[in-house]
Amino acid sequence: MRYGKIIKVFLYFRPYGAIFLKAFFLNTLNPGNFSKLIPHSRPTLGTEEVRRISEVINSGNIAQGEKVEQFEVCLAREIGTSGAVACSSGTAALHLVLLGMDIGPGDEVIVPSYVCSALLNAVSYVNAIPVLAEVDPQNHNIDPADVKRRLTSRTKAVIAPHLFGMPADMDRLVSFGVPVIEDCAQAVGTLSNGKAVGGLGYAAIFSFYATKVITTGEGGMVLSDSKDLLERIRDLREYDQRESHSVRYNYKMTDIQAAMGLSQLQKLHDFITSRREVAEIYFRAFEAFDLDLPPRDAGHIYYRFVIRLKKDAGPLISSMAKKGIECARPVYKPLHRYLKIDGYPVTEQVWFRSISLPIYPSLTKEQADQVETSLTSLFGVTK
Ligand SMILES: Cc1ncc(COP(=O)(O)O)c(C=O)c1O
Repeated sequence: MRYGKIIKVFLYFRPYGAIFLKAFFLNTLNPGNFSKLIPHSRPTLGTEEVRRISEVINSGNIAQGEKVEQFEVCLAREIGTSGAVACSSGTAALHLVLLGMDIGPGDEVIVPSYVCSALLNAVSYVNAIPVLAEVDPQNHNIDPADVKRRLTSRTKAVIAPHLFGMPADMDRLVSFGVPVIEDCAQAVGTLSNGKAVGGLGYAAIFSFYATKVITTGEGGMVLSDSKDLLERIRDLREYDQRESHSVRYNYKMTDIQAAMGLSQLQKLHDFITSRREVAEIYFRAFEAFDLDLPPRDAGHIYYRFVIRLKKDAGPLISSMAKKGIECARPVYKPLHRYLKIDGYPVTEQVWFRSISLPIYPSLTKEQADQVETSLTSLFGVTK
């Protein structure tokens, strides 16, 4: 009798077994999938990364060594600069470039307001003055006309992010005669007039944070054609075994990270192709709506696919979350808000109305379709 009851209970719950097992395994093998059905961003990693990292671990040389050197050579070759210095993050890369350029107290550095606070931090590390510029609403990048208005005799550099993977107007920015530091944190493989960004200014920085175009978990790199600059940065990156003391840093990358980076770099072109395929799905789906879509630029790698509404993006982000799709404001808060400065109306509007959709190489076509159908169903309600 008791066994009969147990069998009955078993038969009742049997249809749910597969669902439970699937959820359990997705959770353990693929943690991002369980709590959020479609995350806003995630890395694309595979067995190749595991193999390369295992090799480094088995070698016993896990700190900065020959893999880091290889990664520097390979990225410089890919972008087309004469050299590179790897480091621990994109922020560290920015800090090292500013130090290497002797930028310090009283110097002004122009940065866009519409960007993450890493730029503000790096300028503050060297006690220079951050001068914020407006954004170009067509392409989300620093507005060259506003940069020109803000140039003074104390301007020592302009930091120009190629935001969301879209090339900034380097020709105009360089024409002002002030050194331009390209921020390629979101733009590995982005092209400007057919040329890779990262080799178009005085120096360029890259970030390899977990969800960037290619990743090492955390990591960064400086690229430049200036041998002097790279030598200074190489010296500042580490402190050990020096004849004389001056302030230096521990901003090194490890060979474990570089092994992952080398593997990711080999996949860069496939990654970009996948990003463009997802972007095409979104373009086709949203063309008919009254929205601002990203520029259809041949050099854009769609690190982010950012659409702009005619009103606050917040409610749409919340509605998508309820459907299990994580969207976000692509810049958490513009810098003029942190610094409590008024007078950035374009940046304000772009920030308030923009929403970034999930886009990454491991996003499947089915997931992209799900984003598309969820969003189009909401447009009817929220437009
Ligand atoms: C445009 C831009 N610059 C710099 C950084 C800083 O990079 P990291 O997080 O590696 O310090 C980021 C990171 O999000 C970024 O998006």
